[in-house]
Amino acid sequence: MQKILDIISAKVQQAFVDAGYEASYGRVTVSNRPDLCEYQCNGALAAAKAYKCAPIQIANAVVEKLNSGDFSMCDAVMPGFINLKLSDAFLQNYLEEMRNAEDFGVEKFGAGKTVIVDYGGPNVAKPLHIGHLRSAIIGESLKRLYKFFGYNAIGDIHLGDWGLQMGLIIAELQERQPDLCYFDENYTGAYPAEPPFTISELEEIYPAAAAKKKEDEAFADKAHTATYELQSGRRGYRAIWKHIMNVSLADMRKIYDNLNVHFESWLGESDADPYIPAMVEDMKVRGIAVQSEGAWVIPVAEETDKKEVPPCILIKSDGSAIYATTDLATMVQRMQDLGPDQMLYITDKRQALHFEQVFRAAKKSGILPGDYPVDHLGFGTMNGKDGKPFKTREGGVMRLERLIAEMTDFVRTKVVENKIVAENEVEETTKKIAMAALKYGDLSNQPTKDYIFDMDRFAAFEGNTGPYILYTIVRIKSILARYGAWETLPIQAPANAYAKDLMLAITRLAPALESALKTFSPNLICAYIYELAGAVNKFYHETRILTEENEQLKAGYISLIALAKNVLEQCIDLLGFSAPEKM
Ligand code: ARG
Repeated sequence: MQKILDIISAKVQQAFVDAGYEASYGRVTVSNRPDLCEYQCNGALAAAKAYKCAPIQIANAVVEKLNSGDFSMCDAVMPGFINLKLSDAFLQNYLEEMRNAEDFGVEKFGAGKTVIVDYGGPNVAKPLHIGHLRSAIIGESLKRLYKFFGYNAIGDIHLGDWGLQMGLIIAELQERQPDLCYFDENYTGAYPAEPPFTISELEEIYPAAAAKKKEDEAFADKAHTATYELQSGRRGYRAIWKHIMNVSLADMRKIYDNLNVHFESWLGESDADPYIPAMVEDMKVRGIAVQSEGAWVIPVAEETDKKEVPPCILIKSDGSAIYATTDLATMVQRMQDLGPDQMLYITDKRQALHFEQVFRAAKKSGILPGDYPVDHLGFGTMNGKDGKPFKTREGGVMRLERLIAEMTDFVRTKVVENKIVAENEVEETTKKIAMAALKYGDLSNQPTKDYIFDMDRFAAFEGNTGPYILYTIVRIKSILARYGAWETLPIQAPANAYAKDLMLAITRLAPALESALKTFSPNLICAYIYELAGAVNKFYHETRILTEENEQLKAGYISLIALAKNVLEQCIDLLGFSAPEKM
């Protein structure tokens, strides 16, 4: 379906032509004076200069050519504005078409295109922290949005599974259990199927090793060597690595499932490793990579740079590959295997320089075409009420599971105290509300900005919060349940001003979602549903719905709020949460 703005722009443009002026002046915008009109066209003011006449004269001529059936108001007002209001019939038809169309008739402009959304990015064997939470929440939402517009969107978790943390764990394990067969270089038998640690042991080993590395230089060297040997293919280390992966991934899947975050692809840095030697060799041969102080680097500075962009390091002087190397090799792999049309990376904005270097290196070396659409969305920090990065009460780094547990406990208390649902539904309802509180609390902020994590505010049932949106949906659901079969009721002309506002809000779905995708801003989805929920609640308070005696009118009210509910539910699905039955 065409967006309303495009439909009426076309009509007004035609009216300009019919009145003898150029079509381009007829572009319509959403009114910035909603008290006066819904849409407006200011083109007569610009046209007046070109045609050397009074703007109001042009506006009058254009208005005369407009079809009055589409508008309940089309006025030329001084000095030359054209103010428009849609007619009831136009709105009714448009909404009825939305109701019957697949996905409310949004244009599937992504059809036939593949996009890779690289998000999550957890590091295997290291605890997940809240930076990873933001990446997961924002990335999942944008991926869903891509899919909604018809893209073949592939969410790739891009595991950090190839770095120093692996060497640290191996070195620490060797100090603790030197007799394990993994460390015996002469061992040629098969390695045990059972891992030499549990997930809780693994969770303890990594921080212990990381702490030791800081104080003990010999240990740090050992860990670096182990990392290098792992990457070079030492059998026993690869076997330990597999164990670490298996144990850690099982745990990770649970956490992401709980968050309603799902990846199409579970590849990681290690999967890019086989692509590194040929890629590096090729870059050396073609002179893309040059030697600098024993390392191989790709110079990526550009004349127009305002800040210095240092060369992208490809191979360190000790011969090892780094983060940028695996990111470049991952692009090689993706282009070979999937040939995506577009890539989007979602991490903390502190990685902005890394991605700038990697993107430039990829284009310079031809891994990506020079005009390839590749973006990095760098998000801000989640802060505590003190304005500093969010910490535990004891001052430590907040782990993801703990944050989710705290929010869930907080919501559960409310659910139980207010006797919202029967005892056997408490958990399910609590989980849904907590997820909405957490995700909406995050997503309602512009991703690039820092925000303050405020449990009370995020979990409140009133205000611009996830639970408020859920509450609105649940309210409609309960009205619909009391009404009975509503699924096939057609949309009627607006019965009052509140109905019309609600209808207008519903028509803004497609433009809101489109801007959200084009600017990587799920916050625009939040802003949209907050407005829509407001229109629903206003209509609900001003209109007797179930007690309306005129059955025809009542059916119209019901079909309208049902459509609003479906739109709201679609939008929260795009944000990655869902509504309970009762609240
Ligand atoms: N593992 C990285 C981290 O924790 C994030 C990975 C992001 N994706 C990428 N392709 N570099 O910082």
